[in-house]
Amino acid sequence: MNEQCTSGVGDAYEPNFDIAERKVRVAISPICNLKCEYCDHGAKRSKEQLGAMEDFRSTEISDGSMDIEGYTRAMRSLYNAGYSGIAFTGGEPLLNRNWPEIVKNAKDIGYKQVQLTTNAMLLEYYVEKNGPLPKELDLLTISLDTFDKGEFARITKGNIDRVIAGINAVRDANPDLHIKANKVVMRNNLPDLEEYIKLCEQGGAIKRLTLLNLICKDPFSEDEKTLFNEQFVSPQEIMEILNNYNFHIDKKYEYITTTSAGLLINLMDTDKTLRSEECENCPMYCQEGLFTARLATDGTIRTCSDFNNRLSYIQSPKLRGEELDAEVFRLLEPQRRTTVQSTLGKFCTKYGLNPRRLN
Ligand SMILES: C[S@@+](CC[C@H](N)C(=O)[O-])C[C@H]1O[C@@H](n2cnc3c(N)ncnc32)[C@H](O)[C@@H]1O
Repeated sequence: MNEQCTSGVGDAYEPNFDIAERKVRVAISPICNLKCEYCDHGAKRSKEQLGAMEDFRSTEISDGSMDIEGYTRAMRSLYNAGYSGIAFTGGEPLLNRNWPEIVKNAKDIGYKQVQLTTNAMLLEYYVEKNGPLPKELDLLTISLDTFDKGEFARITKGNIDRVIAGINAVRDANPDLHIKANKVVMRNNLPDLEEYIKLCEQGGAIKRLTLLNLICKDPFSEDEKTLFNEQFVSPQEIMEILNNYNFHIDKKYEYITTTSAGLLINLMDTDKTLRSEECENCPMYCQEGLFTARLATDGTIRTCSDFNNRLSYIQSPKLRGEELDAEVFRLLEPQRRTTVQSTLGKFCTKYGLNPRRLN
């Protein structure tokens, strides 16, 4: 086995992880206005499943997306099942013109932690036209892989100036809103990691930073495999580089620290993420494991992206009230019981992946 893949994982994990600590990831747009090199651009995985980015539908896009009422119903049932956090994503969520109302409804239902992840390309325009973002939003996550203009354009096909203008517009319009940056750490941008952290600190608007590992979305695709082998950097290696930042590991198996300038940084240890037995057969080594449920734009509720399309799912628009609550609970029940460890090393061996090592 490649040294890179050897896990340093200990035995400790919590089989009865409280569902209230988990969150729902809700796709509110099936399309995106950027084309990031590592992201899924709506590739069809199987006859039935259309997985555009994090929008894990069970129907074709042409079958349409849910309206506000559909989202509210599904979000309420997931809340009734015990989830207390919610994160809106897509595609690009700001492409759904109903996004502010859907966010407000999530808070009204009772979700405590309401988050939205955006590429920020439309943020300045939104603020100019509508004023502050909804006060119900607790956390705004901005995908920001690099501050370098050329590199940003190469990775995303977008314009970093618009992202920065969007961040500044929100900082001024919503001074109390927490802004977090998401950075996918890759071999290409690894040398600039500490510089990147300094730029986040200096700007002042970004209060948190999540470092993400590159997910191999499909080890059966030669392009995906090449990208992963060339660009994947393990959490352990990132920790080696940031060893003077005093990270500790929290109960969600995230490395976490606050820098002397007050920037909170976290990085999920994917080796320790709780996974189900089904994850052992999944060729997508995701970051979420058992920590999320998924609601897609057509109302499909899944326990994960379900690459193999083998798990049960619910088409929430076909159900109502208590019937929907009961189905959601039934869907989630196995997750409350089965947890296994599925290490990165085993995954790499099984799918013939061989990521490069530093030096
Ligand atoms: C899929 S995007 C959707 C939301 C929005 N369009 C955006 O760009 O923020 C959500 C997050 O997933 C991350 N992501 C996408 N593909 C990834 C991959 N292969 N590995 C790790 N993170 C990935 C992105 O960096 C982004 O922060």
